[in-house]
Amino acid sequence: MKIRRVVIDRDICRNCGFCSFVNTCYSLSRCVGCLSCFYACPYNARKVVIEDTTPRYVKIYVDGIEFTVPEDMTVAEALKNFCGYIFSDIDGKKPSIACGTGGCWACALVVDGELKRTCITPVRDGMKVETDIEKFKPLRIVHGPSPHTVGGKATPWWEVNYVNYVEAAIWVAGCNLRCPQCQNYHVTYDNISIPMTPEEAAVAVVECHKRYNTKGIAVSGGEPTINRRWLVEFFREVSKKVKPKVRRHLDSNGTVLTPDYIDEIVEAGCNNIGVEPKCLYVDTYMKITGIENRDLAKKYLETSWRAIEYIYENYSDRVYLGVGLVYNKTLVSLDEIAEAGRKIASIDRKIQVTVLDYFPAFRRRDIKRPTVWGMLEVKKVLEDQGLETVIVQTVAGHIGPKNYRMIEL
Ligand code: FES
Repeated sequence: MKIRRVVIDRDICRNCGFCSFVNTCYSLSRCVGCLSCFYACPYNARKVVIEDTTPRYVKIYVDGIEFTVPEDMTVAEALKNFCGYIFSDIDGKKPSIACGTGGCWACALVVDGELKRTCITPVRDGMKVETDIEKFKPLRIVHGPSPHTVGGKATPWWEVNYVNYVEAAIWVAGCNLRCPQCQNYHVTYDNISIPMTPEEAAVAVVECHKRYNTKGIAVSGGEPTINRRWLVEFFREVSKKVKPKVRRHLDSNGTVLTPDYIDEIVEAGCNNIGVEPKCLYVDTYMKITGIENRDLAKKYLETSWRAIEYIYENYSDRVYLGVGLVYNKTLVSLDEIAEAGRKIASIDRKIQVTVLDYFPAFRRRDIKRPTVWGMLEVKKVLEDQGLETVIVQTVAGHIGPKNYRMIEL
């Protein structure tokens, strides 16, 4: 039988410690090929090897039914490949293998009486798995809360002055993308912090909002939407605790924001949504996001653009919408930026568009950060397509509509 394992390439490893302190192994004595450390290593020093082996078999019980499975694998792999259990795909209505790195808890099932992440938990002889998780509160690793002076893609630009706090924000771990230049990888690949229930996170972020008198509350990531049950409950809990005018901001890559999911979060109280399709073309998207499966990349990109249209068409009166694009000349061309700008302008010229300038980070420390003037060119390209509310992130701060400077250059 073929088993996958992860090995360290010592010539590349820098002993940065990320795999011990942030993204750690839950099966130290024997690699079960969960790939969590492989995806998280900031220097790409981990390799997947396929070994031909004769595995030892163990018995596990799924909803009381006995199955015989190889010992060297995660609970999720055993359930999928040997027990006929089907995880949800991107709609997230049932447990799903969303991040696969232990951060989002979307894959959690009841293992020996406790909610556990099946994507990183190894099987054990005699293990009991229950697939009905309703009696357990959803969990998620959360960073923050912290007050924030900048906000995200859908923070209304006129609220940001770099002096006052605009939002109390949390950042949730786990993402379904694998962007090599991930700007927040310490959060994205965290699988070690103690998770929180939606209510615990809501209490903490609302307290932060009150203490710093912010206009909004935000959830970013990682990718917040990949644990649907957690996110919907989070917005419900926040909405119970704040005044109706407070912005409740979701900052998302939009990849799983289907119309019914959008309906559900708006119903739960979310009134401020930032969607970041990043670019327009699938080839560019695959390069930016590290998604190697073309069909999946296409599906993600289409879902994200459709989410923008759907929010605009159905919730313009209730939801402040922002769109996120990204720029670095090694990843996306100005022509593509212009095309994306035309597409947004065809929906509405007034939609707020924020462009992130990708700088060297995570596995792309080789790229050069665009200059301020380079980002001003991006801004001009988008404004030439008719867009009226373009903000660009630059090394010297954000520059907003009509050359309004959110920070002095
Ligand atoms: S899929 Fe297992 S924690 Fe995200």
